[in-house]
Amino acid sequence: MILGIETSCDETSVALLERDGTVRANLIASQIERHRPFGGVVPEIASREHLQHLFPLLTRALDDTGTSWNDVEGVAVTAGPGLIGALLVGVAGAQGLAYGLGIPLVPINHLEGHIFSPYLQKSGAAIPMPRRFLNVVVSGGHSSIYDVRGGLVTMLNRTRDDAIGETFDKVAKFIGLPYPGGPQIESEGRHGAIDRDRFPLPVPRFKDESLDFSYSGTKAAAIRLARQYGIHAGRDGAALPDFCATFQDALIEQLFDRLNAVWTRISESGEDMPAEVAMAGGVAANGVLRERIRQWGDEHHVTVRLPETVYCGDNAAMIAFAGLQKESEWADPRRVTARSRIR
Ligand code: KG4
Ligand code: ZN
Repeated sequence: MILGIETSCDETSVALLERDGTVRANLIASQIERHRPFGGVVPEIASREHLQHLFPLLTRALDDTGTSWNDVEGVAVTAGPGLIGALLVGVAGAQGLAYGLGIPLVPINHLEGHIFSPYLQKSGAAIPMPRRFLNVVVSGGHSSIYDVRGGLVTMLNRTRDDAIGETFDKVAKFIGLPYPGGPQIESEGRHGAIDRDRFPLPVPRFKDESLDFSYSGTKAAAIRLARQYGIHAGRDGAALPDFCATFQDALIEQLFDRLNAVWTRISESGEDMPAEVAMAGGVAANGVLRERIRQWGDEHHVTVRLPETVYCGDNAAMIAFAGLQKESEWADPRRVTARSRIR
């Protein structure tokens, strides 16, 4: 069994996985309610909450699965990127455990956790990964397309400013919807019409043909429109669902604009095409987005892999799973350090 620990942001999570990727336990203590009054994550509160929840969760994971410490062969912990104080709680805890038990510790890049997460199943062994796949990672802190070949990850693009989840959250906050805003915008927008003329939100592109994302322009334009039309959750009026649907559509549209560009570039390169296209991260829980990527897969005759909803947001199962992909990097626990930024 391998133990996973995740404390990079506002979820404390502990998981136990078998070597074939079967998830025996994946416990998540979410701090959303603690941060909600502040409209975003407060780092100091996050660290304290992790400290309170980490060890009780560990005990529960072992109890729930009837596992003894002797069954744990290695520990995988998120070492970054994330809030440094929050990461340190998980890393220090994992170091103490691994050192005390005399087992190896593997530091995991949080994004690699998300990248492999679509191959985890709710029950049973993990889905075998193809030799090459793309993954569109869409979360609160990141928006990037990755090319994964033989387990080696290459970043194809990134956001030059805001991440997609952050854009959902900031605009939601402006129009008076509670944190985190992504799911709120999705549910408000469910009954709205997409009217690109009424709420014009163009997809930004770079002059240098860069494939990077950029969400700050869409954010600013959406806030301008909300102000102009007096759109606010506290006010009645039919404009809110329409606004949310259009705004969400604009964010999603940009993902597909870049994915199409990436796909075209790879086809023109003459290389073997990726066998699958995956999506991961908190925003991958969005129902409209999930439907769109499935359609995209049908149109391009490529298998689409979406994580189970529990593996979209931050969780330790994906961290333990990434640890299983990196057995060669299992290390002496004393050598592992937390880093708020990686690369
Ligand atoms: O992966 P995650 O839990 O944390 C990071 O590593 O960033 O992602 C959290 C983000 C938040 O911005 C949240 O608003 C967004 O995921 N999110 C959604 C949905 N559910 C969560 N965005 C759009 N639609 C959703 N249904
Ligand atoms: Zn994440």
